[in-house]
Order: sequence, then structure tokens, then C-alpha cells
Amino acid sequence: MENRSQWGTRLGFLLAAIGSAVGLGNIWRFPATAFENGGGAFFVPYLFALLTAGIPLLIMEYTIGHKYRSSSPRSFSKISKGVEWIGWWQVLISFVISTYYPIIIAWSIMYAYFSFGTKWGNDPTGFFVGDFLNLADAGTFGSVVPAVMIPLLVVWVIVLFFLGRGVKKGIEFANRIFIPTLFIVFFIIVIRAVTLPGAMEGLDAFFKPDWGSIFDGSVWVAAYGQIFFSLSIAFAIMITYSSYLPKKSDITNNAFITGFANSSFELLAGIGVFAALGFMSVQADTDISEVVESGVGLAFMVFPEIISQMPASGFFGFLFFAALFLAGLSSMISISETYIAGLQEKFSISRGTAVLCGGGLALLVSLFYATQGGLNLLDTVDHFINNYGVALAGLFEVVAIAWFARSLKDLQNHANSVSDIKLGIWWRICLGFITPLVLGCMMILNLKTEVS
Ligand code: PHE
Ligand code: NA
Repeated sequence: MENRSQWGTRLGFLLAAIGSAVGLGNIWRFPATAFENGGGAFFVPYLFALLTAGIPLLIMEYTIGHKYRSSSPRSFSKISKGVEWIGWWQVLISFVISTYYPIIIAWSIMYAYFSFGTKWGNDPTGFFVGDFLNLADAGTFGSVVPAVMIPLLVVWVIVLFFLGRGVKKGIEFANRIFIPTLFIVFFIIVIRAVTLPGAMEGLDAFFKPDWGSIFDGSVWVAAYGQIFFSLSIAFAIMITYSSYLPKKSDITNNAFITGFANSSFELLAGIGVFAALGFMSVQADTDISEVVESGVGLAFMVFPEIISQMPASGFFGFLFFAALFLAGLSSMISISETYIAGLQEKFSISRGTAVLCGGGLALLVSLFYATQGGLNLLDTVDHFINNYGVALAGLFEVVAIAWFARSLKDLQNHANSVSDIKLGIWWRICLGFITPLVLGCMMILNLKTEVS
């Protein structure tokens, strides 16, 4: 146990944690979520969620990892034998995500390449679903989409390579390159976007506050949902990453830095995306609300269209998809590390064996998503994982720690013994009451929209 892998430096850990947090959620989920939930007024519930749930939970997960120096399942079993399964539940969710997340990273590689010469032509949507994915031929799981298969394997080679090299030489090294590069690339894109004609109209629409929305419960649930997903909370990731921290580490401070870095990136993405949407709406002479999209639609249908209309489109298209690639890859490494660490400890095997078995299995499953039938299923799987799997994982986690094992006080003392900022009763209230309540509401609301 004493020779547990460790981060080389504090910055290395922070870059890896920020690399996990900053992902597709910041770029393609946050902007539309904020816009649809009150625009400028959304920042009130959003900041509230960050401070009452996001950062407190991050502190909790960092403390668990730091204190028990184990993967998520083993950490939970050290807290109480009966709750090891919560760690496995989180690992399982991460495993499932890691089977389809690389598909999107693979698309980004292809689209970075397509940017030169704007291969999607003047019908990017038709190109994406038709020429590129051929989704019209639904249903057949055997028929591989060749455009996806090769970049998918490339993604896996990169991911397994860094995971195989270990915490410091692999994960830390990768994030030391990827994350600064991502920030620079993204900054260039945002500068370009806000200097396009129409950008200000876009920003106006994004920041225009609808104050009435803060009296709407579903807006609050959306804010908490965004924070949980965006900070990679309850995926076993942050527990695993913090288990590699040296004994002397300021846990609480690290959590604040991670939380604020992620939110800053999110805000920057909102500005960039809406500036670009403003440009597009002016070009097409339509209302912004007509062009707002999130997820795959935003990145692979709307953005190609915007890119086509921009000067130097090849260059900026390449940068945009390179940013998606880097943001996705660093998150992908973090999700996969959860089961690498879990398997390693459960079966006392080497990292190499765990990477081959765990990563190999995820790779095999992911090949299924590279077939037409698999691609058609991707949305549904993602929907259930995000709406139920994660919310449940978070709920199990806080209830187990706060109410079943009653270890909040214990964790608070541990965090305070190494951190400058001292946690007080407010921290236990956030985790014992606010977070479980919100997660409970989230489950109920999701179920309600499901049946209606
Ligand atoms: N936090 C990432 C984002 O905001 C998403 C993510 C969730 C990544 C879970 C890994 C695991 O995009
Ligand atoms: Na994020």
C-alpha cells in the first residue's frame, strides 16, 4: 500500500482534475442550458448550486480519496463494509460512459480533418446523418460505419497508452500537455467568435435575464444537474484522482480551484458559443432561439454551418474540433481510470493487466457503437445514464456518507487537518440536507417528464 502511485506535483493533480471536469459538458451543454433556464438570471441558481453542492461534494470526494488512498469501491468499503457497492455502481456508470464517449472524440478527429475544405458542404446536417453516419439505414448492429471505426481505434490507442504509463508519467503527463493547449486553443476561438459581426446580438440573448425563471423549480434542478455533471461528481473519478495525492495536500483549496476553473471555462464557452450563434442568426436573418442547440446537434450540425460562413474557415474549424478532441480526451482518461484503479485493487493485479482487461473490454463494447444500430442507440443510453444513473449514484453517495455511515464529521476533521480553509457546520448541512433533497427532486422531476 505504501508504494501507491502519486502525482508528481500539485499542479499535475489540478490539471488532471480540471481536465476531467472540463469536457463536452462545458462546451455543448452549459450554453444552451443557461439560455433555456433564464439566461442571465440562470447565474443565480447556478452559483448557488456550485457553492451549496458542487464544491462541498468535491471537497467530500477529495477527502475520501485522500483519507483512504483507494479507488472508489475500496474507499467506500473502508468507510463501511456494506456500501462498497456504491463505489462499484459509480465505476459501472463510468464504464458505460467510457464505451460511447470515445465515439464523439473520434467524430471530432474526423471533423477536424473535414474542416479543411469544409467537406460537409452546404448541408452539414444532411452530411452528418447521411454521408458521415448513414443513420437512415437503421437497425443493423453488424454493419460498421467505416468513418468511425478507424478514428475510434486511434482514440483507444491514445487513451490506453497514457493509462498504461501510470499516474505521473501517463495521466499527469497527458493533462500537462492537453489542458494548457486546450485553454489556448479555446481562447483563440472565443476571441474570434466575439469579433464576428452579430456577436453582440448573440451575447445579448445569452445574458438577457428572465428573472421570473428563478421562481421555477425546474430551473434550479437544471442548475444542480449542470453542476454535478460538469464537475464529474459521483462518477468515482474525483475519489480515484485524489487517492493519488501526497499526504500533505490542501484538499479544500484544491476543490475550490477545480470548481472555479471549471465554471470559468463554462462561462467562456457560453460567451464563445453565443457569439457564434449571434453571427449565424445575423447571416441567416433568423432569431437566435431558432438556432440554439446543444450536444451533438450543436457541435456537428450547427457549428459546421457557422464555420463554413466564417473567414479562414479551415483554420477555425480545425481549432474548434481540436478543442472538442482535447476536452473529450482528458475526460475520457479520467472516466477509464476509475475502473482501472478499481480492478487493480479488487483483484490485486498490475496496472498493465487492469488496462488490458478493463480497457480492452470497454474497447470491445465501444465497437458496437461504431455500427449503425449502435449509433442509433447512443442517445437513449446517454439519456438514461445522465438522468438516472448519475443522480442515483450521487444520492446513494451522500446518503451513505451522511446518514448511514455518519462519517461527515470525521471527514471534516480530516479535511481541516490538511487545509487552510476550515470546514464548518455549513459544509455538513450542504451534504446532509441540501444535496440529498435536490438529488431526490431531480429524480422525481426526471421521472415525471419521462412518463408525460
Ligand atoms: N465533466 C465533464 C464535462 O463537463 C463530463 C464528464 C462527466 C466527464 C463524467 C467524465 C465523466 O463535460
Ligand atoms: Na465540466
